[in-house]
Amino acid sequence: MCGIVGHLGSSHSIDLVLEGLKRLEYRGYDSAGISFNKQSGALEIYKKQGKLSNLVDFLGDIKEFNALSCIGHTRWATHGEVSDANSHPHTDGGISIVHNGIIENAEDLRTELVAHGYKFQSQTDSEVFLALLSTTVAKGTPLQEAITSNFSKLDGNSAFVILDSKTSDIWAIKKGAPLVCGLHEVNSDALVSSDPYALVGFADKLYFPQDNVLCHLSAGNKNLINFYEMDGTKSDRYMSKKQEMSLEVSDKGSFDHFMLKEIYEQPGLIRALTKYYFDGEGQETLNNISKLKPGRFLINACGTANYAGLVVKDYIEKFNKIPCQVDLASEFRYRNPLILKDDIGLFVSQSGETADTLAAQNLCKQGGIKTLSIVNVEGSTLYRDCDYNLLIRAGIEIGVASTKAFTQQALTGRLLSHALGDGVDKKSLKDKFNLLATRIDELLSRAEELKSIAESIHHFKGFFYTGRGALYPVALEGALKLKEIAYVHAEGYASGELKHGPIALIDEEMVNVALVAPELLDKTISNVEEIKARKGNIVVIGPQNDANSKRVADYFFGLNYEGLGELSAVYCNVANQILAYYMARFKGTDIDKPRNLAKSVTVE
Ligand code: AGP
Repeated sequence: MCGIVGHLGSSHSIDLVLEGLKRLEYRGYDSAGISFNKQSGALEIYKKQGKLSNLVDFLGDIKEFNALSCIGHTRWATHGEVSDANSHPHTDGGISIVHNGIIENAEDLRTELVAHGYKFQSQTDSEVFLALLSTTVAKGTPLQEAITSNFSKLDGNSAFVILDSKTSDIWAIKKGAPLVCGLHEVNSDALVSSDPYALVGFADKLYFPQDNVLCHLSAGNKNLINFYEMDGTKSDRYMSKKQEMSLEVSDKGSFDHFMLKEIYEQPGLIRALTKYYFDGEGQETLNNISKLKPGRFLINACGTANYAGLVVKDYIEKFNKIPCQVDLASEFRYRNPLILKDDIGLFVSQSGETADTLAAQNLCKQGGIKTLSIVNVEGSTLYRDCDYNLLIRAGIEIGVASTKAFTQQALTGRLLSHALGDGVDKKSLKDKFNLLATRIDELLSRAEELKSIAESIHHFKGFFYTGRGALYPVALEGALKLKEIAYVHAEGYASGELKHGPIALIDEEMVNVALVAPELLDKTISNVEEIKARKGNIVVIGPQNDANSKRVADYFFGLNYEGLGELSAVYCNVANQILAYYMARFKGTDIDKPRNLAKSVTVE
């Protein structure tokens, strides 16, 4: 979704905002723009469709200009085509705005404004809020009151950042979308963004406002950030914390892509997660959560996180005998779900800002039950809204296609199961986690084998990933990875399900990536035989010493599942990550920023 950066303070406002926007490129976008005001109070605006570099080139030496304050935006188009005019910021009457989210009642508001003579410059929903502001201010209402009175008219999830050219002040407000303010306590620069990562190095203290809290970054005042309620009174509805993120993650190092770097980070992250929760500060979190007595878990998530939720369901039902229901959050929120008093809502998310997942959490909260997150971003909306949080500690994930987050989500779910009393002693589980890290290191050392398989199969027209039991969610996730980064059609299926229809699609142009584990091996192999008999091309990712797996495979990649038990799903999935990565390499796609995708889907 869209990226927002605003800065007010010492100097080089334009440079700083452009650098912040550069850090948000990983989230996916299709145009970029900035607006800033000159000492004279004149507001200038520059915006271009396409990559941020188009804007920087367009700016030329303007970017050296020493503006007092500046706001910038990377747009992921929702309403209105990709064009310069539809890019943000939008400006009118000395006010400039950038927006992340969707105004669901924009058309009604636009119709009313046009009827009163307003002339729109774009097709965007965002400009409707600007029109409301400028027409309200034009009648003499102070900007602060114009913002609060009009923001409450908007339906849907939105975050706005507003630049007032008369004062150089910046205002920000949100409802259901991410927003963070930052302060540099030495040079007193004040900043605002949709993602704390944009503020690394520029702010050493972060402030996370709650919904409908108006943030005021004011020029010329020692206390540069103030927070207000909608009625104008001071607000304390915000969380503050020290900025702890570092920039090192923004460097690919020796890797060609962030996604590959993040795949290779997994063994180290697993060891660090193990240390944190078994021997570090995380023990207290697990101890608090161990007191929960859920009658059932309502697990909600989207995309990759939803598949990690299926893995977590397997763990909790197997080890804790607690029923789990896994829903796509986008479905759960609208099907008037049955919520029982002993249920606990469990939400899996990397960003903690996915609109559908947040809505599902809110529905559970309204249902009066406790909510628990398995989340990566501390301070995210999901993190702040849940009663309990289990951080997956994956570090920032730059690649739009989730890899290390899936692994850490699933393993954190295993830790949740342990905390709830799984009858497994701590040392043996800790050893299993560390064994998994070792096995993934070994698997990654054989990446060339998967690269060679990818080279052999990347030209085929369609792919069925199949898996049984614990490997069924991995089949779903493997297929999603291939779709996301290689742009090829792939479907994840339960091995036993293909013969109920989809097998009609099998021919010599199709590939079955069969995920095979020691459990249910014979049944899985017989499913593969059914596909092979119809000329399907067979890739088996299975037990390294299994003769049958090798026999049926046109392409075979061996795994050493020995001793991994319930962690086998996470282990097998890493092979899928590498296979998808090299398939995408051979396809020549944009692996870190795949077309049409956003890192965090903050709209419905
Ligand atoms: C994963 O590769 C995708 N980028 C996407 O499916 C993602 O998992 C989904 O949008 C959920 O995001 P979240 O984990 O930040 O909630």
